[in-house]
Amino acid sequence: MKRREVLKISALGLAAASASCAGLRNSIRAQSNIKGFYHGVASGDPTNKSIILWTRATPVSPGPIVCNLEVSLNKNFTNIVFSKKITTTFDTDYCVKYDYEPNFSFGKNKYFFYRFRSDRLTSDVGRAKLLDDSAKETSFAVMSCSNFPAGYFNVYEACAYEEIDFWIHLGDYLYEYPMDGYATENAQLLNRIPEPHHEILTLSDYRKRHAQYKKDPQSQLLHATHPLIAVWDDHEITNDTWKYGAENHDASEGDFLERKSNAIKAYLEWMPIRENTNKRNIYRSFKVGSLLNLVMLDTRQNNRDKQIDPRNYFSSGQFDMDSFYNDLLNKERRLIGEPQFSWLADTYGNSEVAWNILGQQVLMTKLKFPDISSALSNSNLSEEVKQYLPLLKLGLPSNLDAWDGYPAERDRIFSLFKNNNSKLISLAGDTHNAWFSKLFDNAEEHIGYEFGTPSVTSPGLSEYLNGVNPGELEQGIINANKEIKWVNTSHRGYTKIYLNESILKGTFKFIESVLEKSAEISFSKTFTIDPKS
Ligand SMILES: [Fe+2]
Repeated sequence: MKRREVLKISALGLAAASASCAGLRNSIRAQSNIKGFYHGVASGDPTNKSIILWTRATPVSPGPIVCNLEVSLNKNFTNIVFSKKITTTFDTDYCVKYDYEPNFSFGKNKYFFYRFRSDRLTSDVGRAKLLDDSAKETSFAVMSCSNFPAGYFNVYEACAYEEIDFWIHLGDYLYEYPMDGYATENAQLLNRIPEPHHEILTLSDYRKRHAQYKKDPQSQLLHATHPLIAVWDDHEITNDTWKYGAENHDASEGDFLERKSNAIKAYLEWMPIRENTNKRNIYRSFKVGSLLNLVMLDTRQNNRDKQIDPRNYFSSGQFDMDSFYNDLLNKERRLIGEPQFSWLADTYGNSEVAWNILGQQVLMTKLKFPDISSALSNSNLSEEVKQYLPLLKLGLPSNLDAWDGYPAERDRIFSLFKNNNSKLISLAGDTHNAWFSKLFDNAEEHIGYEFGTPSVTSPGLSEYLNGVNPGELEQGIINANKEIKWVNTSHRGYTKIYLNESILKGTFKFIESVLEKSAEISFSKTFTIDPKS
């Protein structure tokens, strides 16, 4: 979509809202309970039948707010084809979510427009469309790790100008840390101080953090322009979450499962996501005719066993390799668990499509860090990172929070593709860096490809390892890993995927900086895949 068109849509909504504000009389304010629609609009989870439409109404005082959802065929709302009264209350933090199922066709590839009204106040205008079962091609953007205090959401704005059918967020949509915590060094300078200032723990904390992210204008622009398909990673709850705990949670912070419930409740309120009967199961799939089966997994909180920490395998200065590999290769270790695995096997078993794509959180690529300990010895490393330096010489898998920490289950997923006509395409987030890899199973059979998408703002490897030249670091990683064909450790961005029946093109697009507001793409890198290659 052209930049001017996108800006027109957002300006239209904002103009409507301010005109309504100007016309608001005190008497009406006294009768109604709405202060305004300050958090934008969003659409999500499109299928060929329905789509979630979302906004949030800010109340004057406790008590319900009645909103009217309106859908129109044009952006001036002179052709309204649907309207629905929806009541929202404190129970859902005054978020408004509706699974809209049009009873007529908008035509091929046709957008519709939506907005919410309450009394004389009107929300921004959003634009959305359903998935098209007869499509001969589709394209979408993939992103992860959008950390508000780390920088401007330039990547979101750049993505709003793309011609895409939807965007995917693979998690770390928000971060739990306090001011002065992770990646807040520039927060004051950029006026992006986390709200609340402390680490988020309670339902009220998680709701406030979501509200802050949804107030960001670049985020609002993208949400209003394209439908979102999202899954959470760890930071929507807390760092390195597994099913019963997390690295960034201790007993002084209360019960972990209660914290997880708070985080999940706020996420489901504030994100345009369709909810299952079991609200904790967010794994789900989306189909575009015979072109695409997109499976969104939950590798994070659903059934994940605790991560293995290699630092625990040193005794008297010696690393116990046998016991480490004994634990790592244990067939019982689970990242997604049996119910989700069975569901995944059924989903793939039933899909006769050109492309099977797995949207999930953590790298499937096998990653061993090259031994750069001597290059790092003079650099300004944190005490925590220094603890890992002795491990670099041992040649162990480097990211045990990812699939490398659960190799038996990774191979079980790969086995689903052994006899499949098309290769698996994995989309991963979490690392903040960009990766393109060729995936092999434990028998060295080529199973598919992975696009590891860069972060929206969170710092990449080159920012942690600031004593190491990024080009040398990247070449060292490629030399040390058979699967990794290309990596970028120094730029923030997103991945655009285009596909038709015979080709898939993945383009990494990078911005120059997150410290100045600019949505210009500074460079990109494309990889093209044939489904049978
Ligand atoms: Fe992250």
